[in-house]
Amino acid sequence: MVNSKLIGDYIAEQHSEVCAFIYDLDQLSAHIRTMTSRLPKQVDCYYAIKANSDSAILRALLPHVYGFEVASMGEIEKVRAISQNVPIAFGGPGKTITELTRALTLNVQLYHLESELQLARLNQLAKEQNQLVRCLLRVNPYFDLPSATLQMAGQATQFGIDERELLALLPRLGDYPNIQVEGLHFHCLSNNLDAVKHVTLVRHYLQTASTWAAQFGLTWTTVNIGGGIGVTYQGETEFDFPLYAEQLTLLCRDYPQLHLATECGRYISADCGVYLTEVTDIKLSHNEYFAVLRGGTHHFRLPSSWQHSHPFKIYPRETWHYPFTRPSVTDTAITLCGELCTPKDVLAKNVHVAQLKVADVIVFQKAGAYGWHISHHDFLSHPHPQRLYIKENQFMKNGDDHVAQ
Ligand SMILES: Cc1ncc(COP(=O)(O)O)c(C=O)c1O
Repeated sequence: MVNSKLIGDYIAEQHSEVCAFIYDLDQLSAHIRTMTSRLPKQVDCYYAIKANSDSAILRALLPHVYGFEVASMGEIEKVRAISQNVPIAFGGPGKTITELTRALTLNVQLYHLESELQLARLNQLAKEQNQLVRCLLRVNPYFDLPSATLQMAGQATQFGIDERELLALLPRLGDYPNIQVEGLHFHCLSNNLDAVKHVTLVRHYLQTASTWAAQFGLTWTTVNIGGGIGVTYQGETEFDFPLYAEQLTLLCRDYPQLHLATECGRYISADCGVYLTEVTDIKLSHNEYFAVLRGGTHHFRLPSSWQHSHPFKIYPRETWHYPFTRPSVTDTAITLCGELCTPKDVLAKNVHVAQLKVADVIVFQKAGAYGWHISHHDFLSHPHPQRLYIKENQFMKNGDDHVAQ
């Protein structure tokens, strides 16, 4: 749970319109410790930094994760800014020569290759530098996947190497002598809430990897089972992590020779963050109520990207200093929209509120992952939100990411 007392204190102290992300690093540290303590020793836990790459978040996670999964040169640099040697696994479908060259100079230890061209590029660079570079091959398999909000594999996508292409490539790995293929990488879906189905999927990954290793006479040491563990935005049953970890531990016993890696983003950082925005207007339009917020999808694109009503709490404010009427609604459905000039700027649609007044603050929950970091910040050139961090039960001084770097 994010520290709600400090959030209340923060809102109470604001004199202009409230608009901020607040990240609770105490919650984040406690959560990652619990999570990794449950995982079997055979599993290395990476954090996929695309979910939230603020340096304060990375620093808080550094002592508790095995490494960081990155998908661009910018992300590699963010990780190297906090540690020169923490393991980095470099994924992503678009790795260019420029990025791979820089990655080699920045001590990136592992590459998740997503096409034969990536393999050829990296092999060439490694040969020029007389290096043997470690990699996993990312697969887009043909098997069925459990339903989830996003699916990156098991269907036509730009990600990974199509299973049939991979089977044609495996006998020819000798063509790339400067690449040591250590195993396979699977990241097939996002926001899966079913722990039992998740283990079934991992079992399938391990069986597939073992079958192909035997078929092609390869010795694989590692299978990366991706991220994709979900969080509940709509009040669904939560992902049962203890059950998942227990079943994964049993599964690992069947594959004592294999090392596993996982690279979760959302499940690690979603719950540590909240997004606060003040109600700046309330209006009735064609018989429906709308609340306009000081903020919106340019700060927090997730609800519009996933077309869901994001969970929130209302922080009511009693004082109103103006001579004119304060708009408010009671016991009604209302749509919470942002300040942008597009009808798509909606964070929660037709949601019930007991009471809402202009100048109250909406506190969106579970905003720590894929919030600020996937948003189009400068559309309409509104001021950016403050970004603040709680550590040891107080706001960090100079904790804002821009200052901290
Ligand atoms: C290759 C890869 N790994 C890991 C992740 C993290 O996924 P999640 O945040 O769903 O755990 C992503 C997210 O898109 C990804 O593309």
